[in-house]
Amino acid sequence: MSLSVLAQRALDLSSNGLERRLRTLTSPVGPVVRTTDGPKLLFCSNDYLGLAGDPALARLFAEKALELGCGAAGSRLVCGNTASHDALEAELAAFLGTEAAVIFPSGYQANLGAIGALTETQDVIFSDELCHASIIDGCRLSRAKVRVFPHRDLAALERALAESTEKGLRLVVTDAVFSMDGDVAPVRDIQSLCERYGAVLYVDEAHSLGIVGPRGAGLCAAQSLPPEAVLRIGTFGKALGLCGAFLACGNDAARLVRSRGRSQMYSTAAPPLLIEAVRAALRISSLADERRAALHGNIAKWRELAHQASLPILASDTPIQPVLIGDEKTTMEVSAQLWQRGVFVQGIRPPTVPAGTSRLRITITAAHHAEHIERLVTALSAVLLLTSR
Ligand SMILES: Cc1ncc(COP(=O)(O)O)c(C=O)c1O
Repeated sequence: MSLSVLAQRALDLSSNGLERRLRTLTSPVGPVVRTTDGPKLLFCSNDYLGLAGDPALARLFAEKALELGCGAAGSRLVCGNTASHDALEAELAAFLGTEAAVIFPSGYQANLGAIGALTETQDVIFSDELCHASIIDGCRLSRAKVRVFPHRDLAALERALAESTEKGLRLVVTDAVFSMDGDVAPVRDIQSLCERYGAVLYVDEAHSLGIVGPRGAGLCAAQSLPPEAVLRIGTFGKALGLCGAFLACGNDAARLVRSRGRSQMYSTAAPPLLIEAVRAALRISSLADERRAALHGNIAKWRELAHQASLPILASDTPIQPVLIGDEKTTMEVSAQLWQRGVFVQGIRPPTVPAGTSRLRITITAAHHAEHIERLVTALSAVLLLTSR
């Protein structure tokens, strides 16, 4: 009986066009990948600087595996903490100018654990409506009240702050670069509001770390926010090409997160070989102004060609370049036809984006060549023409 309920639910999912299917790669990530269905041009990875398949990092991995072993074998609070973890946290804090940094096994876990550890029932969280799912889940799991404000709407945020009567901590949370739209939060103005209303700012720099700011230090650094005035999440799985995340913060916040951040207290620590690779990727990224220039050149090239071809692109000057389709089924059909033409772009549907705004989430990287971008625009124009008939 119970299993037939699951069967019905799975059927509903697929008949509503919401079932997810995995694509399988058989090569390292790069602008061109091998898949179980042949080679594809890859335009949906978060490997913005082209580090995920970097042979130097791969060699370091192999060497460090022999030196340090493969697994951490416990959460950091038990026996999984190593000199590599301590060193990376010190380097992240120095890089971002904060007193401390706390590593998490993933960005999802970072938002879940940090928001929960920093807030209590008497507190209130103000969250942009398009924040990443991990922030939404972190807010839900925390015991604080949550007020969602319209996307990037400073006037609405100010009204919500002015009207709030809670006596506890006020935490304003936002993505720096929004993961499905590619647009940028007005963090300097939000920080001014936080100062005026005694709130604390929390910014998720997942898609801005390594991309903007001095030495790729992110959006808050690019906008000269004082490092001690903002709690920053960064991830290692996007521009750094690896996996994991951190909160950069003051000592008091770090103490709370280490002792109350359940997603890292009760989860196996990242293996030290991975942490050593992250240290190397951070060094490479901080010196990678040429890769950043190539990335921004590729974004400009894509936007120019997409405009010429009248593609329905959204306003974004970040590596995340959505093409709005609207309907879920058409979006997945366009994605499938691109795949058949050798181009791998994922379709994004509800609940990841609001209903009626399904899209292709195209991502541009420093590793793409002009010819790859030209092939993408040609294939996409042809497929959109066919599906609009
Ligand atoms: C804004 C944002 N925060 C957090 C995450 C989660 O990071 P991770 O993939 O390391 O779990 C993502 C991932 O897509 C993201 O876009």
